[in-house]
Amino acid sequence: MELFGRNDLCWCKSGLKYKKCHLAFDQKIESYRRRGCIVPTRSIIKTPEQIEKIRESAKINIAVLDYISSHIKEGIATEQIDQWVYDITTQAGGIPAPLHFEGYPKSVCTSVNNQVCHGIPSPEVILRDGDIVNVDVSTNYQGYFSDSSRMFLIGNVSPEKKKLVEVTKECVSLGLAQVKPWGFLGDMAQAVHDHAAKNGYSVVREIGGHGIGLAFHEDPWVGYVAKRGTEMLMVPGMIFTIEPMINMGREGIFVDSENDWTVYTEDHSPSAQWEIQVLVTETGHEVLCY
Ligand code: MF3
Ligand code: CO
Repeated sequence: MELFGRNDLCWCKSGLKYKKCHLAFDQKIESYRRRGCIVPTRSIIKTPEQIEKIRESAKINIAVLDYISSHIKEGIATEQIDQWVYDITTQAGGIPAPLHFEGYPKSVCTSVNNQVCHGIPSPEVILRDGDIVNVDVSTNYQGYFSDSSRMFLIGNVSPEKKKLVEVTKECVSLGLAQVKPWGFLGDMAQAVHDHAAKNGYSVVREIGGHGIGLAFHEDPWVGYVAKRGTEMLMVPGMIFTIEPMINMGREGIFVDSENDWTVYTEDHSPSAQWEIQVLVTETGHEVLCY
């Protein structure tokens, strides 16, 4: 971290002198670093102004998912969901963050049953009775990013798949409960992993969450196979996603070789994912979107 003079204005743009603002905070982080902990760089820590803009982006993301939630039903094509996402996001003044992201062709990811993530909406994929589907929405609003996803049950879903969806949601809640300043991302990861394992499920290792706010994907990478007390230190002003992918069967996955995007379970078992975007606050956390 660059050095600020004690009497210089603080880097957080509060208008206060550094010694009256973030000096003690920076020193505390530095003491963790000297003990060998992974600590966030300053670019990961958002200022109050940035947080306010990211909150506005997140409100659009929530509104889009709320709309999908009240309109998704058996018989629609995932292409229809893509249309809704594009229309609602742009009407609100945002841009769907997935669109053209690293060549991704659509505005949203729709992952059905044994698709783990990055399912591409298509007129050919029709939601059928008994399907479970993840809709993963991400918004760029004036250069500020938000990202969350929910699972939807289509018609009569088997008790086994329903349980997978519910337990995955519980995994996110239990992980979230671990999010507080001066804890570690591993505290969150272990809570997620333990609950999935206790229910006989496996956790996808290779794909995880991420820092977010000024870009779609920022440091740190956020995995769910890590132990308490490991991984990055959480400090106020950090924003990241919790988005575990939980498989009913084995943890193995593969990427569709036709489109290079869609991820499937190797054993064809169903997979579920919920995603929230969370801010670490002085006292705990705030969920920005869900
Ligand atoms: N929304 C996904 C995430 O949670 C990222 C999708 S990248 C895309 O990180 F290009 F497929 F949209
Ligand atoms: Co994400």
